[in-house]
Amino acid sequence: MSVSLVADQNRENVVKRVLIKFNTSILIMPNAQSLKRWKKWGKKGIFICVEGLDGCGKTTQTKLLVRRLRKKGYNVIGTAEPSRGEIGNFIKKYCLHGMKRVSSVVEALLFAADRFEHVEKEVIPALDEGKLVISDRYVYSSLAYQGAGGLDLKWIERINEHAMRPDLAIFIDVEPSIVIQRLKPRKSVMENLETQRKVREVYMKFVENGELVKVNGNKSKGEVADDILRVVLRFLAKAN
Ligand code: TYD
Repeated sequence: MSVSLVADQNRENVVKRVLIKFNTSILIMPNAQSLKRWKKWGKKGIFICVEGLDGCGKTTQTKLLVRRLRKKGYNVIGTAEPSRGEIGNFIKKYCLHGMKRVSSVVEALLFAADRFEHVEKEVIPALDEGKLVISDRYVYSSLAYQGAGGLDLKWIERINEHAMRPDLAIFIDVEPSIVIQRLKPRKSVMENLETQRKVREVYMKFVENGELVKVNGNKSKGEVADDILRVVLRFLAKAN
């Protein structure tokens, strides 16, 4: 056997070993950890997320929802992704506010890592205390944005296995051409018509299969807030 062939085989073996190790840890570790998490959580609180295109009014609506639910006496905390933690801040600098988009695989892995910390450090402790947690974006953002970037939705779900499904997920639906008008000047690499159209297509798949509840976001701020509150109160009435 020639020296170069031996070297090639050695390299191949190293790559195989790394891949086997990586895959094994992906397949085994998150499952074992999420099992612990589910047990620890014990489902005392309620977890709701609000999703939508950039510029759909999601952040304003999430804040309004938190305020209105508090007024009604609910023990609510508002949270967001990308999170305020170190990985979330890194994502904002490295992925969102750069000159051009990084690979969708890198985005998906970073958002999944940020979500792991967000769930572990913010969401689960609040749910353990019986709180109502409202998150401005969650796992559906990864499915929609990184799915629109060309990644397999099943793979995105797998790397997010640690992230429990929310009890209720709301999608504020605004036409991509309208959000693009609102998003001037542009703040992030995601804010262009083609991306927003593709993102909406993926979100709509989850509306169609019943995982996301669609709210018409083309009305006035107050009307959209009323509609969202109605959906949430109806859900809470059934959950109690
Ligand atoms: P955004 O809600 O616009 O945050 P902010 O108002 O703080 O700028 O979200 C930032 C961007 O990140 C948005 O374009 C969607 C994108 N994103 C993903 O691509 N994948 C994800 O998993 C998440 C959570 C966000």
